[in-house]
Amino acid sequence: MNVLIATDKPFAKKAVDGIRTIVEQAGMTLSLLENYTTQEQLLGAVSKADALIVRSDKVTREVVQVAPNLKIVVRAGAGYDNLDLEACSSRNIVAMNTPGQNSNAVAELALGMMIYMARKQFQPGTGSELRGKTLGVHAYGNVGRLVAGLAKGFGMEIYAYDPFIPASVMQADGVHVANTLEDLYSRCDYISLHIPANDATKGSIGKSLLSLMPQGACLINTARKEVMNEEELEAVLAERTDLKYATDIAPGNIDALRAQFDTRVFATPKKMGAQTQEANVNAGLAAARQIVAFLKNGDKTFQLNK
Ligand code: 3PG
Repeated sequence: MNVLIATDKPFAKKAVDGIRTIVEQAGMTLSLLENYTTQEQLLGAVSKADALIVRSDKVTREVVQVAPNLKIVVRAGAGYDNLDLEACSSRNIVAMNTPGQNSNAVAELALGMMIYMARKQFQPGTGSELRGKTLGVHAYGNVGRLVAGLAKGFGMEIYAYDPFIPASVMQADGVHVANTLEDLYSRCDYISLHIPANDATKGSIGKSLLSLMPQGACLINTARKEVMNEEELEAVLAERTDLKYATDIAPGNIDALRAQFDTRVFATPKKMGAQTQEANVNAGLAAARQIVAFLKNGDKTFQLNK
Protein backbone atom coordinates (compact mmCIF):
# COMPACT_ATOMS: atom_id res chain seq x y z
CA MET A 1 0.00 0.00 0.00
CA ASN A 2 1.32 3.43 -0.93
CA VAL A 3 0.53 6.40 1.28
CA LEU A 4 1.14 9.78 -0.35
CA ILE A 5 1.65 13.04 1.53
CA ALA A 6 0.80 15.85 -0.91
CA THR A 7 1.37 19.21 0.73
CA ASP A 8 1.78 22.45 -1.13
CA LYS A 9 2.68 23.87 2.32
CA PRO A 10 4.94 21.15 3.82
CA PHE A 11 4.67 19.68 7.29
CA ALA A 12 7.57 20.15 9.70
CA LYS A 13 10.25 17.46 9.23
CA LYS A 14 9.40 15.94 12.60
CA ALA A 15 5.83 15.35 11.41
CA VAL A 16 6.96 13.72 8.14
CA ASP A 17 9.38 11.49 10.07
CA GLY A 18 6.59 10.47 12.48
CA ILE A 19 4.18 9.74 9.64
CA ARG A 20 6.85 7.63 7.89
CA THR A 21 7.41 5.57 11.05
CA ILE A 22 3.69 4.84 11.47
CA VAL A 23 3.22 3.97 7.79
CA GLU A 24 6.33 1.77 7.53
CA GLN A 25 5.63 -0.04 10.79
CA ALA A 26 2.28 -0.97 9.25
CA GLY A 27 4.12 -2.49 6.28
CA MET A 28 3.21 0.31 3.88
CA THR A 29 5.35 2.73 1.88
CA LEU A 30 5.39 6.52 2.06
CA SER A 31 5.73 8.92 -0.90
CA LEU A 32 6.18 12.63 -0.52
CA LEU A 33 5.12 15.49 -2.80
CA GLU A 34 5.93 18.81 -1.15
CA ASN A 35 5.98 22.39 -2.40
CA TYR A 36 4.39 21.35 -5.68
CA THR A 37 3.42 24.17 -7.98
CA THR A 38 1.29 22.56 -10.67
CA GLN A 39 -1.84 20.40 -10.70
CA GLU A 40 0.00 17.99 -13.02
CA GLN A 41 2.51 17.19 -10.28
CA LEU A 42 -0.33 16.34 -7.90
CA LEU A 43 -2.15 14.27 -10.54
CA GLY A 44 1.03 12.36 -11.36
CA ALA A 45 1.81 11.55 -7.73
CA VAL A 46 -1.72 10.59 -6.70
CA SER A 47 -2.14 8.17 -9.63
CA LYS A 48 -0.15 5.54 -7.70
CA ALA A 49 -1.54 6.22 -4.22
CA ASP A 50 -3.76 3.99 -2.08
CA ALA A 51 -4.07 6.65 0.62
CA LEU A 52 -3.59 10.40 0.55
CA ILE A 53 -2.74 12.91 3.28
CA VAL A 54 -3.28 16.59 2.44
CA ARG A 55 -3.55 19.94 4.21
CA SER A 56 -5.44 22.72 2.39
CA ASP A 57 -4.53 21.07 -0.92
CA LYS A 58 -7.55 20.77 -3.19
CA VAL A 59 -8.79 17.21 -3.70
CA THR A 60 -11.02 17.74 -6.72
CA ARG A 61 -12.98 15.33 -8.90
CA GLU A 62 -10.06 15.36 -11.33
CA VAL A 63 -7.68 14.29 -8.54
CA VAL A 64 -9.77 11.31 -7.45
CA GLN A 65 -10.46 10.30 -11.04
CA VAL A 66 -6.79 9.80 -11.88
CA ALA A 67 -6.21 7.65 -8.77
CA PRO A 68 -7.61 4.18 -9.47
CA ASN A 69 -6.22 2.67 -6.24
CA LEU A 70 -7.18 5.50 -3.90
CA LYS A 71 -9.23 4.28 -0.93
CA ILE A 72 -8.87 7.03 1.66
CA VAL A 73 -8.09 10.76 1.78
CA VAL A 74 -7.30 12.39 5.10
CA ARG A 75 -7.24 16.14 5.44
CA ALA A 76 -4.67 16.66 8.23
CA GLY A 77 -6.59 19.50 9.84
CA ALA A 78 -10.11 20.63 10.60
CA GLY A 79 -11.69 22.48 7.67
CA TYR A 80 -12.50 20.19 4.75
CA ASP A 81 -13.82 22.70 2.23
CA ASN A 82 -10.87 21.64 0.04
CA LEU A 83 -12.22 18.09 -0.38
CA ASP A 84 -14.82 17.25 -3.02
CA LEU A 85 -16.77 14.83 -0.84
CA GLU A 86 -19.23 13.90 -3.58
CA ALA A 87 -16.41 13.00 -5.93
CA CYS A 88 -14.81 10.87 -3.19
CA SER A 89 -18.12 9.10 -2.50
CA SER A 90 -18.69 8.44 -6.19
CA ARG A 91 -15.46 6.43 -6.20
CA ASN A 92 -16.05 4.84 -2.76
CA ILE A 93 -13.15 6.77 -1.31
CA VAL A 94 -13.42 7.46 2.41
CA ALA A 95 -12.69 11.11 3.31
CA MET A 96 -11.67 12.11 6.84
CA ASN A 97 -10.32 15.09 8.76
CA THR A 98 -8.42 15.22 12.05
CA PRO A 99 -10.56 17.59 14.16
CA GLY A 100 -8.94 19.37 17.09
CA GLN A 101 -5.37 18.34 16.28
CA ASN A 102 -4.13 21.75 15.14
CA SER A 103 -6.59 23.95 17.07
CA ASN A 104 -4.19 25.29 19.67
CA ALA A 105 -1.84 26.68 17.02
CA VAL A 106 -4.71 28.56 15.35
CA ALA A 107 -6.01 29.84 18.68
CA GLU A 108 -2.59 31.18 19.67
CA LEU A 109 -2.30 32.96 16.34
CA ALA A 110 -5.70 34.61 16.87
CA LEU A 111 -4.50 36.01 20.21
CA GLY A 112 -1.20 37.07 18.62
CA MET A 113 -3.10 38.95 15.94
CA MET A 114 -5.24 40.69 18.55
CA ILE A 115 -2.15 41.95 20.35
CA TYR A 116 -0.49 42.92 17.07
CA MET A 117 -3.49 45.01 16.06
CA ALA A 118 -3.97 46.47 19.55
CA ARG A 119 -0.34 47.65 19.38
CA LYS A 120 -0.78 49.15 15.91
CA GLN A 121 1.37 46.53 14.22
CA PHE A 122 4.29 47.53 16.47
CA GLN A 123 4.55 50.95 14.82
CA PRO A 124 5.51 53.94 16.98
CA GLY A 125 2.56 55.48 18.79
CA THR A 126 0.11 54.57 21.51
CA GLY A 127 -1.76 51.29 21.34
CA SER A 128 -4.22 49.62 23.68
CA GLU A 129 -4.48 46.53 25.89
CA LEU A 130 -6.71 43.48 25.68
CA ARG A 131 -7.56 43.47 29.38
CA GLY A 132 -11.09 44.67 30.02
CA LYS A 133 -12.08 44.49 26.34
CA THR A 134 -14.91 42.34 25.02
CA LEU A 135 -14.20 39.42 22.70
CA GLY A 136 -16.85 37.81 20.54
CA VAL A 137 -16.10 34.24 19.53
CA HIS A 138 -18.01 33.55 16.34
CA ALA A 139 -18.44 29.74 16.47
CA TYR A 140 -17.51 27.84 19.60
CA GLY A 141 -15.82 24.75 18.17
CA ASN A 142 -12.36 23.44 19.01
CA VAL A 143 -10.54 26.65 18.06
CA GLY A 144 -13.18 29.07 19.35
CA ARG A 145 -13.21 27.42 22.74
CA LEU A 146 -9.41 27.62 23.04
CA VAL A 147 -9.43 31.27 21.96
CA ALA A 148 -11.97 31.99 24.70
CA GLY A 149 -9.79 30.29 27.31
CA LEU A 150 -6.63 32.14 26.26
CA ALA A 151 -8.44 35.49 26.10
CA LYS A 152 -9.79 34.97 29.60
CA GLY A 153 -6.18 34.80 30.75
CA PHE A 154 -5.73 38.28 29.29
CA GLY A 155 -8.68 39.55 31.33
CA MET A 156 -11.07 39.91 28.40
CA GLU A 157 -14.81 39.47 28.78
CA ILE A 158 -15.92 36.72 26.43
CA TYR A 159 -19.13 36.36 24.44
CA ALA A 160 -19.83 33.57 21.98
CA TYR A 161 -22.38 32.72 19.33
CA ASP A 162 -22.84 29.19 18.05
CA PRO A 163 -26.27 27.76 17.23
CA PHE A 164 -24.77 24.23 17.10
CA ILE A 165 -23.33 24.23 20.65
CA PRO A 166 -25.57 24.10 23.75
CA ALA A 167 -25.52 27.35 25.72
CA SER A 168 -24.67 25.32 28.82
CA VAL A 169 -21.25 24.40 27.34
CA MET A 170 -20.33 28.07 26.87
CA GLN A 171 -21.75 29.06 30.24
CA ALA A 172 -19.77 26.30 31.97
CA ASP A 173 -16.63 27.92 30.50
CA GLY A 174 -17.62 31.31 31.94
CA VAL A 175 -18.55 32.63 28.49
CA HIS A 176 -21.61 34.84 27.92
CA VAL A 177 -23.96 33.51 25.28
CA ALA A 178 -24.95 35.95 22.54
CA ASN A 179 -28.48 35.27 21.34
CA THR A 180 -27.91 36.46 17.80
CA LEU A 181 -24.97 37.31 15.59
CA GLU A 182 -26.09 40.93 15.65
CA ASP A 183 -25.92 40.85 19.44
CA LEU A 184 -22.37 39.42 19.28
CA TYR A 185 -21.05 41.92 16.74
CA SER A 186 -22.61 44.94 18.41
CA ARG A 187 -21.14 44.10 21.84
CA CYS A 188 -17.58 43.17 21.08
CA ASP A 189 -14.34 45.12 20.68
CA TYR A 190 -12.80 42.07 19.02
CA ILE A 191 -14.52 39.39 16.99
CA SER A 192 -12.64 36.17 16.30
CA LEU A 193 -14.03 34.14 13.39
CA HIS A 194 -14.09 30.35 13.62
CA ILE A 195 -16.80 29.36 11.16
CA PRO A 196 -16.17 26.86 8.36
CA ALA A 197 -16.53 27.83 4.70
CA ASN A 198 -19.71 26.24 3.37
CA ASP A 199 -22.78 27.25 1.37
CA ALA A 200 -24.36 28.88 4.43
CA THR A 201 -21.31 30.91 5.49
CA LYS A 202 -19.57 31.95 2.27
CA GLY A 203 -19.69 35.74 1.87
CA SER A 204 -21.73 36.02 5.07
CA ILE A 205 -19.50 38.49 6.94
CA GLY A 206 -20.15 41.87 5.40
CA LYS A 207 -21.58 45.29 5.98
CA SER A 208 -24.64 44.31 8.00
CA LEU A 209 -22.51 42.73 10.75
CA LEU A 210 -19.33 44.81 10.51
CA SER A 211 -21.10 48.12 10.76
CA LEU A 212 -22.59 47.03 14.11
CA MET A 213 -19.17 46.74 15.74
CA PRO A 214 -18.31 49.29 18.44
CA GLN A 215 -15.91 52.20 17.95
CA GLY A 216 -12.32 51.01 17.36
CA ALA A 217 -13.31 47.35 16.99
CA CYS A 218 -11.22 44.73 15.21
CA LEU A 219 -12.19 41.60 13.29
CA ILE A 220 -9.74 38.69 13.42
CA ASN A 221 -10.09 36.04 10.72
CA THR A 222 -8.15 32.80 11.22
CA ALA A 223 -10.99 30.84 9.62
CA ARG A 224 -11.44 31.13 5.86
CA LYS A 225 -11.11 33.89 3.24
CA GLU A 226 -14.36 32.77 1.61
CA VAL A 227 -16.56 33.70 4.57
CA MET A 228 -15.88 37.39 3.99
CA ASN A 229 -17.77 39.64 1.62
CA GLU A 230 -14.58 41.37 0.51
CA GLU A 231 -16.21 44.26 -1.36
CA GLU A 232 -18.34 45.13 1.64
CA LEU A 233 -15.34 44.81 3.95
CA GLU A 234 -13.51 47.41 1.86
CA ALA A 235 -16.54 49.71 1.84
CA VAL A 236 -17.05 49.44 5.61
CA LEU A 237 -13.38 50.09 6.36
CA ALA A 238 -13.60 53.22 4.18
CA GLU A 239 -16.76 54.42 5.93
CA ARG A 240 -15.76 53.48 9.48
CA THR A 241 -12.23 54.81 9.84
CA ASP A 242 -11.97 53.31 13.33
CA LEU A 243 -12.44 49.64 12.34
CA LYS A 244 -9.60 47.13 11.83
CA TYR A 245 -9.23 43.77 10.08
CA ALA A 246 -6.51 41.15 10.60
CA THR A 247 -6.57 37.92 8.66
CA ASP A 248 -4.58 34.74 8.19
CA ILE A 249 -5.88 34.45 4.65
CA ALA A 250 -5.29 37.47 2.44
CA PRO A 251 -8.43 38.69 0.70
CA GLY A 252 -8.46 39.13 -3.09
CA ASN A 253 -8.43 42.91 -2.60
CA ILE A 254 -5.54 42.97 -0.10
CA ASP A 255 -3.45 45.43 -2.16
CA ALA A 256 -6.33 47.91 -2.27
CA LEU A 257 -6.96 47.44 1.45
CA ARG A 258 -3.31 47.98 2.35
CA ALA A 259 -3.07 51.07 0.14
CA GLN A 260 -6.14 52.65 1.71
CA PHE A 261 -6.05 51.51 5.31
CA ASP A 262 -2.38 51.01 6.25
CA THR A 263 -2.04 49.53 9.76
CA ARG A 264 -5.79 49.08 10.14
CA VAL A 265 -5.39 46.00 7.94
CA PHE A 266 -3.06 43.02 8.27
CA ALA A 267 -2.76 39.74 6.37
CA THR A 268 -0.16 37.01 6.83
CA PRO A 269 1.89 36.30 3.67
CA LYS A 270 0.74 32.67 3.60
CA LYS A 271 -1.87 30.94 5.78
CA MET A 272 0.03 30.06 8.94
CA GLY A 273 -2.54 29.34 11.66
CA ALA A 274 -1.66 25.65 11.84
CA GLN A 275 1.95 26.13 10.81
CA THR A 276 3.66 25.00 14.00
CA GLN A 277 5.72 21.88 14.55
CA GLU A 278 3.30 20.78 17.28
CA ALA A 279 0.21 21.18 15.10
CA ASN A 280 1.92 19.43 12.16
CA VAL A 281 2.92 16.52 14.37
CA ASN A 282 -0.51 16.24 16.00
CA ALA A 283 -2.49 16.45 12.75
CA GLY A 284 0.00 14.55 10.55
CA LEU A 285 0.40 11.60 12.91
CA ALA A 286 -3.35 11.45 13.53
CA ALA A 287 -3.86 11.29 9.75
CA ALA A 288 -1.34 8.45 9.42
CA ARG A 289 -2.90 6.50 12.30
CA GLN A 290 -6.39 6.96 10.81
CA ILE A 291 -5.17 5.64 7.46
CA VAL A 292 -3.55 2.57 9.01
CA ALA A 293 -6.62 1.90 11.17
CA PHE A 294 -8.87 2.14 8.10
CA LEU A 295 -6.72 0.08 5.73
CA LYS A 296 -5.99 -2.62 8.33
CA ASN A 297 -9.24 -2.73 10.31
CA GLY A 298 -11.83 -0.78 8.32
CA ASP A 299 -12.04 1.84 11.09
CA LYS A 300 -14.06 4.78 9.71
CA THR A 301 -13.99 7.08 12.73
CA PHE A 302 -13.84 10.69 11.48
CA GLN A 303 -15.33 9.78 8.10
CA LEU A 304 -16.87 12.91 6.56
CA ASN A 305 -18.69 11.45 3.52
CA LYS A 306 -21.06 9.06 5.28
C1 3PG B 1 -7.53 23.75 9.21
O1 3PG B 1 -8.65 23.82 8.69
O2 3PG B 1 -7.16 22.73 9.84
C2 3PG B 1 -6.63 24.93 9.19
O3 3PG B 1 -7.16 25.94 8.41
C3 3PG B 1 -5.20 24.60 8.80
O4 3PG B 1 -4.97 24.55 7.42
P1 3PG B 1 -3.53 24.17 6.83
O5 3PG B 1 -3.27 22.74 7.13
O6 3PG B 1 -3.62 24.45 5.38
O7 3PG B 1 -2.50 25.04 7.50
